[in-house]
Amino acid sequence: MPRDEAELLPIRVIGDKVLRQKAVEVTELTDEIRKFIRDLTLTMYADDGVGLAAPQVGKSLRIFVVDPYWYREGHQKNPRVLINPQFVEFSGEDQDEEGCLSLPGIWGKVTRASKVVIEGLNENFESVRYEAEGFFARSLQHENDHLDGILFIDKIPPLQRVKFARKVKELKSTTNAEGVNIKQKQHEDQ
Ligand code: CO
Repeated sequence: MPRDEAELLPIRVIGDKVLRQKAVEVTELTDEIRKFIRDLTLTMYADDGVGLAAPQVGKSLRIFVVDPYWYREGHQKNPRVLINPQFVEFSGEDQDEEGCLSLPGIWGKVTRASKVVIEGLNENFESVRYEAEGFFARSLQHENDHLDGILFIDKIPPLQRVKFARKVKELKSTTNAEGVNIKQKQHEDQ
């Protein structure tokens, strides 16, 4: 087991090509993956996120972490890591506001299943299954979409998407020639 401290990872924002790639399955829990999961979790909390997927920090792997309620009063941190997740059930429908660390300053209402069942592996490569509803179900769907190169704004009707088109363009404008777009300081706290 590596004893090195978890480190903050730079967040990739829209325009970065890694956010649009289909992430690959994890075949083995190496020390490098264990360390990566600790870094991913630390980064999620440090950026006040309720979920963070590996592609959002530049790693095209099927891993995400969610903790939908930690910032609410009376809730303790309870990160759930999912590796190679798969939904086995979807039911109901509801609409609620979403944001994303890769789309700073943008929020929009997204329609998703209101209840889901998801299976996958946890940070110890043990099988886990979550039956989720409400905001937990929403977070799982949002994070899983990142593994398939999908961002929440893709699920918003085009007419409503117009209102943040300028912001998206501005965010994309910092993408470098290699297709990398690291979150800039000026994007924080918006
Ligand atoms: Co997101």
